[in-house]
Amino acid sequence: MNHARTSMLLGFGLAAIVGTGIVGCRGERSDKPPRQFFPDMDDQEHFRPQNETEFFADGRSQRPSVPGTVGYGRAPIDHAEAETTGWGEEYGVQRARLLREDKALYSGTTDAPVDDPAHYIDEIPVEVTMDLIRLGQENFDIYCAICHGYEGDGYGTVGDRYAVRPANFHDPKYTNTDDILGRDGYLYSVARNGLYDPAGAMRMPGYAHALDEYEAWAVVAYIRTLQASRGMSIDDDIIPGAERNRLLEQRGTPVGSADQPASQEQIAEGGEQ
Ligand code: HEC
Repeated sequence: MNHARTSMLLGFGLAAIVGTGIVGCRGERSDKPPRQFFPDMDDQEHFRPQNETEFFADGRSQRPSVPGTVGYGRAPIDHAEAETTGWGEEYGVQRARLLREDKALYSGTTDAPVDDPAHYIDEIPVEVTMDLIRLGQENFDIYCAICHGYEGDGYGTVGDRYAVRPANFHDPKYTNTDDILGRDGYLYSVARNGLYDPAGAMRMPGYAHALDEYEAWAVVAYIRTLQASRGMSIDDDIIPGAERNRLLEQRGTPVGSADQPASQEQIAEGGEQ
């Protein structure tokens, strides 16, 4: 055996030993604590949440809240902000959201039995303003229109190809408050929780992950707006003059002009034809 060959073999041998040393550590289980070269303050005496302890008389490692403690929002209090908005107002909202005590607002339901229409509230429990309706429109167009259509008639791009036709909100059953389907609380709870058949199969996904309570009520307000928009009459005061004229012109009965909107009487006459 010449010298070069010996040292080559020796080299291989060493590499093999070192290699096994490194690779051999992987996957090995041990009950010993991991090696720490700089433990710093990693290991201190502490309690694990929900664990038992002999330190406290009640045996619980976690300390219960002081009696009378009330949840009061999650965000730290911004004093400067609170002074301009009225002390505590913002935190009052946070607190209400945290406690979710207002059943009507947070679940849209009452204590009446589930099959009783009164189980679902029939009035949106937040103030309905133009801003709320716009927020509803924005969210409806993002989350609902793809199936239910931008007009809520069930002809959305995806809905069109769905095995089951998505609901047409202009069907009178969705406005009749004597029945469950027509109640605000029902629309709200479908928007948030989705629809399941009695066997548990999903008929429509819920959107609680995307719509908080306020946004879901906004969507209900917008569905109500869509419904109302189809029930309008040309004689309704709510249609602005110029738009009313445009519609009448379409019908071949122009009255007044954009600058000089028609009066109610003119419209009544023009609209009769
Ligand atoms: C992925 C498609 C899809 C999306 C998105 C969708 N829906 Fe639906 N929705 C359906 C289908 C399908 C039905 C009909 C289910 C059935 O009759 O089995 C339905 C039915 C409904 C009903 C009627 C429930 C009933 O009992 O008659 C309501 C109310 C409703 N959807 C609200 C909403 C709202 C609000 C949104 C947006 C937050 C939304 N949906 C988004 C597919 C969808």
